[in-house]
Amino acid sequence: MQFPEKLNRKISKRIDNESLRSLGKKNDLIDFSSNDYLGFAKSEVIFDRTHQFLIENNLKQNGATGSRLLSGNHNLYTSVEKQLSEFHNSEASLIFNSGYDANIGFFSSVPQRGDIILYDELIHASIRDGINLSNAKAYKFQHNNLTHLDEVLNRVKNETAAVYVVTESVFSMDGDSPDLVTMSHIIKKYANVYFIVDEAHAVGVFNKGLVQELNLENSVFARIITFGKALGCHGAAILGCKELHQYLVNFARSFIYTTGLSLHSIATVKFAYEELAKNQAKEKLQKNISFFKQEVNRLDLNFIESNSAIHCCVISGNEKVKLIAKKLNNKGFDIKPILSPTVTKGEERLRFCLHSYNSIKEITNVLENLATFV
Ligand SMILES: Cc1ncc(COP(=O)(O)O)c(C=O)c1O
Repeated sequence: MQFPEKLNRKISKRIDNESLRSLGKKNDLIDFSSNDYLGFAKSEVIFDRTHQFLIENNLKQNGATGSRLLSGNHNLYTSVEKQLSEFHNSEASLIFNSGYDANIGFFSSVPQRGDIILYDELIHASIRDGINLSNAKAYKFQHNNLTHLDEVLNRVKNETAAVYVVTESVFSMDGDSPDLVTMSHIIKKYANVYFIVDEAHAVGVFNKGLVQELNLENSVFARIITFGKALGCHGAAILGCKELHQYLVNFARSFIYTTGLSLHSIATVKFAYEELAKNQAKEKLQKNISFFKQEVNRLDLNFIESNSAIHCCVISGNEKVKLIAKKLNNKGFDIKPILSPTVTKGEERLRFCLHSYNSIKEITNVLENLATFV
């Protein structure tokens, strides 16, 4: 079968730019790359409790059987959504199959024609894709630059438009955070402006997420939380008011036109949250983050400022960053290079994800090795 020429050309361009993606193999290297910040993805406690719960409650079902609006709903969904609302101090929550689906669903359905979306220029691809599906006009503001946000807001706001301002509480490719408190003050100056925060990389790293850490629950219209990062399982939820819940059930196409998550997935979320409430891994992770930063200073390495579990060392050029990643892999560390076009050309980087289960020795070793390569 012939492969379309235009597609061949796109692949060739990726090869020429050193940016061709391919699926890697599972490896036994020391994990500085997964999103499993608290080790929950491999937690036997969560696995065993989930299994036991499903058996005890006779929930022996492999798939959801349909969209949640048809045959795919179950009391377990409702009870886990209640658990999420309570845990996250939100009026309501709605589970989606993934963070990608949640963002697509929200941004394609909530902002209407004539409305405006303002987004941080480094916002996640899932939000960009949602925005592309929306009929609203969208403008970006400079990364974490709140003076610029205020200027753009002032310029674009009009009498009739609702404005949706979206940011991430921890940026996935930089690990840094916006000043959410000041952002909420800026947003409050204007009528009909709604604040949306994607908390994918903050929940579990900063307890219940940065919005809650900063007591901003009532200033935020919607929070996107995902279960595939620190919670170590799968799926996502949008937290917000009851009206938002009802609206999304009716209009978010990525919620409506897809098979729901399996009961097994939902039960795993239930027990991952129970574990999050009592497990010590959060404290261990925080200690590792502090130690990592201390070592970066000692070795005078050039990292983007971050207090989260994501730490990035900018190394310009796809070829160079790939080479250094390979050298670290050969020393036994799983570190991924982040290439352009995923990040802006010239800002290619090594992305270190820290975990509760990384040892002090591993952190020192990986950074000392890095110092000899850069
Ligand atoms: C900020 C952000 N939002 C949303 C997502 C998507 O989440 P999921 O992996 O559950 O689709 C990700 C994951 O890459 C992310 O980093």
